[in-house]
Amino acid sequence: MKLFTSTTRGIPVPAEVPKHIAVIMDGNGRWARKRFLPRIAGHKRGVETVRELVKSCVTLKVEYLTLFAFSSENWRRPPEEVSFLMGLFMEALQREVAKLHQNNIKLIMIGDRTPFDTALVAQIEASEKLTENNTGLVLTIAANYGGRWDVLQAVNKMQLAAPQLTGYYREDHLEPHLSMSYAPEPDLFIRTGGEKRISNFLLWQLAYTELYFTDTLWPDFNQEAFNLAIQSFQNRERRFGRTSEQLTETKV
Ligand code: IPE
Ligand code: IPE
Ligand code: MG
Repeated sequence: MKLFTSTTRGIPVPAEVPKHIAVIMDGNGRWARKRFLPRIAGHKRGVETVRELVKSCVTLKVEYLTLFAFSSENWRRPPEEVSFLMGLFMEALQREVAKLHQNNIKLIMIGDRTPFDTALVAQIEASEKLTENNTGLVLTIAANYGGRWDVLQAVNKMQLAAPQLTGYYREDHLEPHLSMSYAPEPDLFIRTGGEKRISNFLLWQLAYTELYFTDTLWPDFNQEAFNLAIQSFQNRERRFGRTSEQLTETKV
């Protein structure tokens, strides 16, 4: 497995197109309510947006796309909505995985699978297995994921792996145990739906990510809206702690 240096230990080479985009797909419920539809209709429409975004990322040659599908806090929603989301998840996997595979996309799920139905876990495992040797876009779906959960599970694994180091752990001891150790940290974070918060998504990994918030609701997040996010990213100056002058010096 390739290990990446974290942005607090090393400075990544800047790129025009973000290598890794992480997205909080928010606003499905409001999209539906605006149309006097049940919230679940918004979730259904949201799957279409995912399909389009995956296509755009393949075209742009984005290497990693990470989507927040269900947070560890989303269990607090009404039970009917939770079970609809689980069903939708299962259905989307069954329907889309062959297409993802044909397009050389590698699918990985992060998050705690223990509360999922055995059928869903089996479907997740089969989808990952089918696509594991693909070399195109790495599509990560975060389901029952929480940033705090991720850091804590990594700490527990790190301690088991190297108990002799107690009290002397460094970032590079922890990083291989984080859920996304196979990917560089996100370059661009997008949150649709107007809220300006991280909602316990990738807390460790977003340390130096460029943050982009849009009022567009997830089902309306089309190609044009995505282009605006990319343009915004391209206008950022990523200093990683350095001064602006230092960046211009290195450019010439
Ligand atoms: C995001 O849309 C989808 C999930 C959290 C699964 P929401 O369902 O949060 O939509 P709003 O925020 O209520 O509009
Ligand atoms: C964040 O959206 C989680 C996902 C998109 C999966 P929420 O709608 O759950 O976030 P909050 O509750 O508004 O922070
Ligand atoms: Mg929401």
